[in-house]
Amino acid sequence: MMHVVMVAAEAAPYVKVGGLADVLGALPQQLDRLGASVDVIIPRYRIINLRQFSFARLPLPEGLNFDVQISIIPGTQVRVFLLGNDRFFDRDGVYVDSTTGMDYDDQADRWIYFQRTALEFIRTVLHPVDVIHCHDFQTALIPGYLRRLYAGEPRYSQTKSVLTIHNIGYQGIFAPETMFRTGFDAGEFQPTSPFEFFGKLNFLKAGISFADLVTTVSPTYAREIQEDNELSFGLAGVLRGRPNPVIGILNGIDYDVWSPSQDVWIRATYDERTASDARCQNKMAVLHKFQLDESRLSKPLLAMVSRIDAQKGFDLVEAVLDEILSEDVSFVLLGTGNRDGETRMSHIAARYPDQVGLWLGYDEGLSHQVISGSDIFLMPSKYEPCGLTQMYSMRYGTVPVVRSTGGLKDTVQEFDPHSGQGTGFTFSEFEASDFKDAIDRALSVFADKAAWKTLMENGMRSDFSWTHSAAQYRSVYQKTLIGSEIHKSTSEFGIS
Ligand code: ADP
Ligand code: GLC
Repeated sequence: MMHVVMVAAEAAPYVKVGGLADVLGALPQQLDRLGASVDVIIPRYRIINLRQFSFARLPLPEGLNFDVQISIIPGTQVRVFLLGNDRFFDRDGVYVDSTTGMDYDDQADRWIYFQRTALEFIRTVLHPVDVIHCHDFQTALIPGYLRRLYAGEPRYSQTKSVLTIHNIGYQGIFAPETMFRTGFDAGEFQPTSPFEFFGKLNFLKAGISFADLVTTVSPTYAREIQEDNELSFGLAGVLRGRPNPVIGILNGIDYDVWSPSQDVWIRATYDERTASDARCQNKMAVLHKFQLDESRLSKPLLAMVSRIDAQKGFDLVEAVLDEILSEDVSFVLLGTGNRDGETRMSHIAARYPDQVGLWLGYDEGLSHQVISGSDIFLMPSKYEPCGLTQMYSMRYGTVPVVRSTGGLKDTVQEFDPHSGQGTGFTFSEFEASDFKDAIDRALSVFADKAAWKTLMENGMRSDFSWTHSAAQYRSVYQKTLIGSEIHKSTSEFGIS
């Protein structure tokens, strides 16, 4: 049986900031169903409720100076380990220091510590391991550690590394002297080396350079980041320099959590047959929650559930909102962001108290309610590695209007009123007028009840399950392992 250990900064339902957590919450269970043996390692943040998820302290061999909590995901063999260290993880936040509104200023050290302890833990307690699957920059030094610090370690001699890039906009770029604290030979910090990036240390560059395979979360994003220096935030050349290309595997969505027929958060559950009545009740609940008048029930309700960040296209939202709101629609936003972003959205909401509802905060239940009770979901992203909320929306009969980039391009097809094919509305250029046109097309189909019903049903019937994607990950793992077999057999003949 293949043994895979996933190492990441977040995993739902224990700790979630964005879609990374959703993926770590679903993929291990899917792989378990496919017969792989999967472990997950994340930090023991203060906000994780140990009792709620039945975590228990794991006795460790002597010499390991961290603590580990273990829990098994019910109904599976998946083990989840929380690696503890109070100095680095017993804090209010995950990434951001609430007193400054910025990333913790010792974040390089936090992630170096986490990666090194994770590798010591795997080596002493979890081995033998076939694949260590790393996610994003917080775990991207691991492939390099395997190649350098553990080069002669027999317990890792058969272990391969896979790095999944969920967002190349976050690379873990730190001052050059950080190199001294990584444990790598500081002499390796040279221009064009795996570590150096415009005079700084770049965790993700190191991961891309050392990992046996690199994947990302949609086929289009895989193409974009290898071809386009801007979309790759400067790493396109490094990606193209790899011996094997980046593989794009589309995320699925977790049907146990995101299914309108069994959603524990929404007022009325439904399926395709009962959607119209139930969604009306849910829309009413959303209007109440956002303090909008009941009379708005018959008007189109546009929504966003999102980090308030430039990536998500808030510039375009701001640019079109005045015009869109003149068409007598309502708009609700559930989101969090930095102070500037939140203030800008608050100003808009204050100007349209009857039409705009704003909820600044992170609220899992409310995210389900908004997605089940609005008509149109906006996602005009500047870039989008995969995006999950557009898929949640389609599954709930809420029609997405998206910019065709990354995973949005791979998941939403423009609706054609003549053929009745398609699942949403799309635009290509990052231009306010194109976004506005796409919203207008949505509003005109909304006025045609029969066409809208067809469109909603197309989305609700689409397959966004993890089944296919999990099988693709399994074959990625197999691919790395076959590589090791080839290496072994050639070296046996003295060719290597
Ligand atoms: P990203 O990871 O780039 O933020 P995704 O669409 O992949 O984008 O995933 C975002 C996830 O975070 C979704 O599960 C979405 O519902 C959730 N989310 C984002 N903002 C909020 C919020 N304010 N409250 C609750 N859930 C949120
Ligand atoms: C990142 C991306 C998002 C993706 C998620 C999960 O946060 O921004 O597009 O869906 O990771 O892979």
